[in-house]
Amino acid sequence: MTEQETAENLSYDTFAASVARSRALEEDIQKNPRRHRVLTGDRPTGDLHIGHLFGSLLNRVRLAKMGVDSFIVIADYQVLTDRDVFDQISLYTINLATDYIAAGLDPDSGNVFIFPHSCVPELNQLLLPFLNLVSIAELERNPTVKEEIEAAKMARMNAGMFTYPVHQAADILFCKSTAIPVGKDQLPHIELTRTIARRFNAKYAAQKPIFPEPQGLLSNAPTILGLDGGKKMSKSRNNSIPLKASPDETAKIIKTAVTDSERRITYEPERRPQVANLLEIASFASGVAPEIIAETIGDGGAGKLKQYLTESLNEFLRPLRARRAKLEADPATVRRALDKGIAKAREVGEETLREVRGAMNMYRQGS
Ligand code: TRP
Repeated sequence: MTEQETAENLSYDTFAASVARSRALEEDIQKNPRRHRVLTGDRPTGDLHIGHLFGSLLNRVRLAKMGVDSFIVIADYQVLTDRDVFDQISLYTINLATDYIAAGLDPDSGNVFIFPHSCVPELNQLLLPFLNLVSIAELERNPTVKEEIEAAKMARMNAGMFTYPVHQAADILFCKSTAIPVGKDQLPHIELTRTIARRFNAKYAAQKPIFPEPQGLLSNAPTILGLDGGKKMSKSRNNSIPLKASPDETAKIIKTAVTDSERRITYEPERRPQVANLLEIASFASGVAPEIIAETIGDGGAGKLKQYLTESLNEFLRPLRARRAKLEADPATVRRALDKGIAKAREVGEETLREVRGAMNMYRQGS
């Protein structure tokens, strides 16, 4: 163990502690939206679905509309860590940006910046100094990476997979973000990021700290299950409703949703998770509480419930789909939005990199 590690070991925090911190952060954002900066993002691996929409996208839209500076990273380099396919990455990047904008993240608002991290060399360069601030043992303990390695069934783990959380720390710190809206699985990466920020400041910038310690902002939306009644909704499990699905396709997918054999519809998340899941999605879409929807449907059974869900979801998605169709017909708008996001990210990243290199006493060309 290095001296540094003995001095202050990285411990992956308890969930309860993260929840408490997230609540306090939410309150502070409500009070001072302009003192915060959000950074979050996704890997471009396919189309977003309603699980993403209700679980995280709408929360991002809410924060952006409050006036919080919002940096949205499309983590294209991260895709290479556990996949061999790369021919579709550009296409998925455009699709992802299209979904973001259609969902209500508005690049013309002046405080929303969407960019693929591979286009921001200043961000990527932060990875080099950051790698020296964590130990191999600390990376080995990351529970999310462990799970991903298992899921990907990798025969040999590449070093990119092993170190991607440090790259993610560069995503988060390059713009000095304070709030990271994410799901529970990303919390270990944020813990690592906080440790890197703290160690960087202590080692190189004790007089004038460069990085704030960002925190995870957990959404209180429950996880949406797949329509097969199994685990989380996910594209790879083929149990999702993509945002780009048409109203007819949506109806068809909902028809296949697994329920149970009891006719009367009731809202009992523990005992009847599949029925409860459909009620919850309908509730997100209609704004009506799941208990009330269950009562309204009563003996109408699963058929009526699916009909209610189809109608309310199609109604809710109508404006999003209209925006999506318009963007699809005019991809130049999406490209322009990305180019603008990249320009802003580079400007911010250049400034941070200048400060970082200065703090580390690196040679300054032309000085
Ligand atoms: N690891 C995230 C995921 O798999 C994507 C991501 C990359 C991210 N960089 C980020 C999320 C920075 C939040 C902040 O979904």
